[in-house]
Amino acid sequence: MKVVICPTPADVARTAASVVALAVRSAGPEAVLGVATGSSPLALYEELAAAVRAGELDLSHVSTFALDEYVGLPRGHRESYAEVLRRTVTEPLGLDPAGMHSPDAWAPDPQVAAAAYEQAIHDSGGVDVQILGIGANGHIGFNEPSSSLGSRTRMKTLTARTRRDNARFFRSLNEVPHRCLTQGLATILDARQAVLVAQGEAKAWAVAATVEGPLTSMVPGSVLQLHEHATVVVDEAAARQLRLADYYREAYGRPDAA
Ligand code: F6R
Repeated sequence: MKVVICPTPADVARTAASVVALAVRSAGPEAVLGVATGSSPLALYEELAAAVRAGELDLSHVSTFALDEYVGLPRGHRESYAEVLRRTVTEPLGLDPAGMHSPDAWAPDPQVAAAAYEQAIHDSGGVDVQILGIGANGHIGFNEPSSSLGSRTRMKTLTARTRRDNARFFRSLNEVPHRCLTQGLATILDARQAVLVAQGEAKAWAVAATVEGPLTSMVPGSVLQLHEHATVVVDEAAARQLRLADYYREAYGRPDAA
């Protein structure tokens, strides 16, 4: 894994956006972008939106696949991930809404919807670059600890920790759904490139366990150790528990470094 340690969260956003923009440009105008929700990638999306506004990047033919969606919210709920992505990705980045895909958590049978989503990713030709955040417990997508390393899109139950962490987006903890549909770890690994961003000390344990810990379903992010082309972009606070931080600074001080 390539680990890029940046001085500040703003540098994380700039660096990760340049990695994503490069991947999208080399995949061509119809690139397939995998998108995460949550706070971590927001500044990265703003950087991409600024590049689009400046005419440096054209994403109008790019399609997107969301990592996950809550089960149990009313359709169109402000915090459903389809809505969050419409506000934070589709509109500001000038994407065609018709090319935006999310797992259908409102389908009569969510397991059938999960299988259909997996098929849709496959039929698109696969994700060229997957943007990821990470949960404080090491989850990626909503693959909570103990998720199968070979998992595919399916229904999952959120841990109490994740529901507490995400309660800030809702009026109360009670409103946070218990279930979700999420791409599996094997689905995420299929992306041709993965870019994970993390900021702040609350993520330091998860980042270190993902990058340096053993490969284990107890830290779902650690599955990225199997990925051929994964870049982890973190600020100093999120890098605090990395044992090889100095090595990463020397080896990957620039995102294009080897
Ligand atoms: C959401 C997702 C999650 C988040 C993670 C971190 O689509 O994939 O894995 O990336 O929960 O959330 P934030 O960024 O809000 O700390």
